[in-house]
Amino acid sequence: MLLASRLLRLQLFRFVIILVLVLSYVENGNAGLTSTFVRTQWPAADIPLDNEVFAIPKGYNAPQQVHITQGDYDGKAVIISWVTPDEPGSNSVKYGTSENSYDFSAEGTVTNYTFYKYKSGYIHHCLVDGLEYDSKYYYKIGEGDSSRVFWFQTPPEIDPDASYTFGIIGDLGQTYNSLSTLEHYMKSGGQSVLFAGDLSYADRYQYDDVGIRWDSWGRFVEQSAAYQPWIWSAGNHEIEYMPEMEEVLPFKSFLHRFATPHTASKSTNPLWYAIRRASAHIIVLSSYSPFVKYTPQWMWLREELKRVNREKTPWLIVVMHVPIYNSNAAHYMEGESMRAVFESWFVRSKVDFIFAGHVHAYERSVCTFLFFMPYRPINTSSYRYVANQFVYLYLPLPLNGIPIRSFS
Ligand SMILES: *[C@@H]1O[C@H](CO)[C@@H](O)[C@H](O)[C@H]1NC(C)=O
Ligand SMILES: *[C@@H]1O[C@H](CO)[C@@H](O)[C@H](O)[C@H]1NC(C)=O
Repeated sequence: MLLASRLLRLQLFRFVIILVLVLSYVENGNAGLTSTFVRTQWPAADIPLDNEVFAIPKGYNAPQQVHITQGDYDGKAVIISWVTPDEPGSNSVKYGTSENSYDFSAEGTVTNYTFYKYKSGYIHHCLVDGLEYDSKYYYKIGEGDSSRVFWFQTPPEIDPDASYTFGIIGDLGQTYNSLSTLEHYMKSGGQSVLFAGDLSYADRYQYDDVGIRWDSWGRFVEQSAAYQPWIWSAGNHEIEYMPEMEEVLPFKSFLHRFATPHTASKSTNPLWYAIRRASAHIIVLSSYSPFVKYTPQWMWLREELKRVNREKTPWLIVVMHVPIYNSNAAHYMEGESMRAVFESWFVRSKVDFIFAGHVHAYERSVCTFLFFMPYRPINTSSYRYVANQFVYLYLPLPLNGIPIRSFS
């Protein structure tokens, strides 16, 4: 009896503490000013196609829209992608560790597709593997006078102490705001972008302009994406289900243009996969692919979470388009279906960060382990939604064994 009532008092005490903490968040409703960066342009207008940020590189069939992504599980490979406009041309990448001496070469593949009456250029993807960690590589693509040279830095070896700087970008588009975001990011010292979906917003256009705006976006992000890996996830603007134009194959443009190393993490679909980089294990999910119980994405994630080794990669990061917590009126509760399926796994696996886009507003919740833990059916009325506020709140008890990490 005594023990039971002491336990009850302890639970009550915890509940009160949490409630006070939560309510203080809810009242403040924001985390203060975290950056001096202020975006100036509004409303967002797409940059005209003749702007220099979309410039077509000089020379016959010159490679354009160059971008790279991690090519394997552990960061010793990259996939280099580019488009040649006039003819397929060469699929090979020449590369080496010093400028003007390309000792190695790798052979890629080429693909092309149509969208309405638009015909894409020749889209090349080339896996360059067997790289050394922590090294700078120069690479050259294209032929003769039209060839172009870029470089990238490989990450440090997988190690719990390996430091690394990721940038987070989502919902980029190709407006003047997008340009400001990209330029701001490029000054940040970020070494690799975790991209939280919605790339070009080409689907706001119709007919041939959809493909044309994918091409312009590819040229736009090249200034960063050719030099450091962008880790891709797909958003709603990648679906491009446009039956009025007889385009009904979801993700058609995205899947042709952006490769991911999905097979390296035993995924059967490029839309969800995992990589490890430095001290982070990064899981990319697809908000717009089936994820309920027994679907391939669900089965894959269950296995991938078992492969996470916190001794090697203490940071566990999930990247996806739709946030599972969102107090903004825009897209409110769209993440509920995925929250219902995966939140308990995220909690049990002690995911450190979930980065999502979709809602064009900055929101973050801290100490989510403390506040969001409905990993068992809530058999009380101790939950509520806090609309248009900072947190989206669940308060199941008990709190036993919930670690609180400090972020630095
Ligand atoms: C791809 O390119 C080849 C060669 O130019 C062309 O014959 C074919 O029709 C193209 N395929 C698509 C789907 O556009
Ligand atoms: C909910 O609570 C009732 C009453 O304490 C209990 O009989 C029932 O088994 C609980 N249900 C679940 C799903 O835990």
